[in-house]
Amino acid sequence: MILDKDFKIAEIDPRIYGSFIEHLGRAVYGGIYEPDHPLADEKGFRTDVAGLVKELNVPIVRYPGGNFVSGYNWEDGVGPRDKRPRRLDLAWKTVETNQVGVNEFVDWCKLVNSEVMMAVNLGTRGVDAARNLLEYCNHPEGTYWSDLRISHGYKEPHKIRTWCLGNEMDGPWQIGHKTAEEYGRLAVETAKAMKWVDPDIELVACGSSNTAMPTFPQWEATTLEHAYDEVDYISLHQYYGNPSNDTASYLAKSLDMDNFIKTVISTCDFIKAKKRSKKTINLSFDEWNVWYHSNDADKKIAPWLIAPPQLEDVYNFEDALLVGCMLITFLKHADRVKIACLAQLVNVIAPIRTENGGMSWKQTIFYPYLHASLYGRGVALNPVISSPKYDCAEFTDVPYLESAAVYNEENEEVTLFAVNRHLKEGLYLECDIRSFEDYQVLEHIVLEHDDLKAVNTADAERVKPHHQGNAELKDGILIAILPKSSWNVIRLKKSEGSPG
Ligand code: AHR
Repeated sequence: MILDKDFKIAEIDPRIYGSFIEHLGRAVYGGIYEPDHPLADEKGFRTDVAGLVKELNVPIVRYPGGNFVSGYNWEDGVGPRDKRPRRLDLAWKTVETNQVGVNEFVDWCKLVNSEVMMAVNLGTRGVDAARNLLEYCNHPEGTYWSDLRISHGYKEPHKIRTWCLGNEMDGPWQIGHKTAEEYGRLAVETAKAMKWVDPDIELVACGSSNTAMPTFPQWEATTLEHAYDEVDYISLHQYYGNPSNDTASYLAKSLDMDNFIKTVISTCDFIKAKKRSKKTINLSFDEWNVWYHSNDADKKIAPWLIAPPQLEDVYNFEDALLVGCMLITFLKHADRVKIACLAQLVNVIAPIRTENGGMSWKQTIFYPYLHASLYGRGVALNPVISSPKYDCAEFTDVPYLESAAVYNEENEEVTLFAVNRHLKEGLYLECDIRSFEDYQVLEHIVLEHDDLKAVNTADAERVKPHHQGNAELKDGILIAILPKSSWNVIRLKKSEGSPG
């Protein structure tokens, strides 16, 4: 590997370390909010969960869905709690109590130092409900909706900057599913009205729900034909799994994600060219993760329960490796991927798990997400990599080494993120970093485990990082053994006292 401080991709938008809380399962109720929990604060938020979210340093959290948003009446979740209606949520076949709504979620985001990324309902609703919600949230005062917010105890506007125009509108499972033409028209009209209410907002149009959708990537092209001038981002969603237990193929799925990103960039730029536009549409990868462990269990959950344990994937060690590869993929595309949301944050396909009334703990995927969020801030660098490769059932020419680097000029730190996909052998890494004069190895963090299927539970944290990696630096060459199937974070820092 050769890493040079001038091989810059782009400044990383911290929002690529975003996440997602949907009104689904126990994400909200029993997750972030549980007023009867011994560790709940005066607003009913679990302080243990808030502590873990703060540790992750999550810059932005998408809310309230997801499929849920396509049937949501946001007005149900504001005002006195005892007057809020219970509704059937058709997306997840549950009962929504509306005890948490927009204002409570804004409060929670303040508690965990995050920004809200709000989605509007373009399934059962449209322009009117979206512009009213925006007026309620962001308009200072003196109008029906802004004064209603003030009467609900929120004098200051919420100033929510990033808004999603619906969710997965290409999917037949979506309430109010639309064709690309229908969605494109609705998206542009909603976007226009919303930007008239508040010109400072940024808007995300729905892209495809995943690469397997029959309408991908024509959906993106048609949507942008209509909405190019009014929106700022197009969304991407993708989940992976390893149901056939083929780990070599599973760990290579980030190559599919890479291809997905490249295709969407090409589609955006095709429409840009067609429209002779000077504006560039960036990418919001606002749902990504591993999701498959809980599929069977979910089929057995009875309908119309309140906050049942839905989508509670228990993640194993190999899932953490793929999550690491996916985070590295975002860094490689830091010039165009400006937002990404790990879906989701608590209990529902999440790095954080809780028991109702009990403990909270870190799943295996917590760690690569934590490391990337903490140390992946600055400028993404493009390392020149020469790695041995392998073929597997689903991919050919898969590099054993998946890696990206981040240069934090302000802190004079360089961090190398690296996954060794080899399941049996360590990988000898030799990296020329001579352009970083007087740097030294600060630490080499390693996440490894002999059992690819090892999981963490409330009482046992089997998969956790250690700091005994063997990276060392001699004459500008960084050398390390990356253990078989491992996630590595090699942090370098300029020596104290060396010239700046
Ligand atoms: O994150 C779970 C679900 O996955 C979301 O509600 C939906 O947008 C996607 O299909």
